[in-house]
Amino acid sequence: MLEHIGLDYPANNGPRLLFADHHEKIEKACDALRAATYGEDSLELIARYRAFERAMLEHMAAEEEQILPAYAAEAPDEAAEIRATHDELRRQLYGLGVEVELHCVRAESLEQIVKTLRAHAAREDARMYPWAQVHLPLRTKEELVTRIARSLRSLAP
Ligand SMILES: [Fe+2]
Ligand SMILES: [Fe+2]
Repeated sequence: MLEHIGLDYPANNGPRLLFADHHEKIEKACDALRAATYGEDSLELIARYRAFERAMLEHMAAEEEQILPAYAAEAPDEAAEIRATHDELRRQLYGLGVEVELHCVRAESLEQIVKTLRAHAAREDARMYPWAQVHLPLRTKEELVTRIARSLRSLAP
């Protein structure tokens, strides 16, 4: 349990729920970024982009460091596709960051990243997270819960 940081995700059932919640919050952070593109406040736009970027990078790094090495032994093709999509998402994020710096965020760029994110989330929810829930050592699950809960709190509300 993580009452000490205000979240309730028991490690024996935590990562699956927590990563799904994180996907949802990341998409909301993208919505907030989209809303900021209609405003005049460029600092607000940059802050929204940074929050979205930080959460995305942390989410993918946690999966790559703490789930994918073990998952690759079980499902190598699936793990490779997830890594490839992470690379694609980082590429799209970088492109979006350039547009933010230039103050000309294109609606298509946001739509593309949301589309990639949703398909990726559905794939992970269907297979990798249920596997991780059952097979990762308890200690790894506890570390993931702490790590992702920290990112979730930084995205709240
Ligand atoms: Fe992922
Ligand atoms: Fe994920």
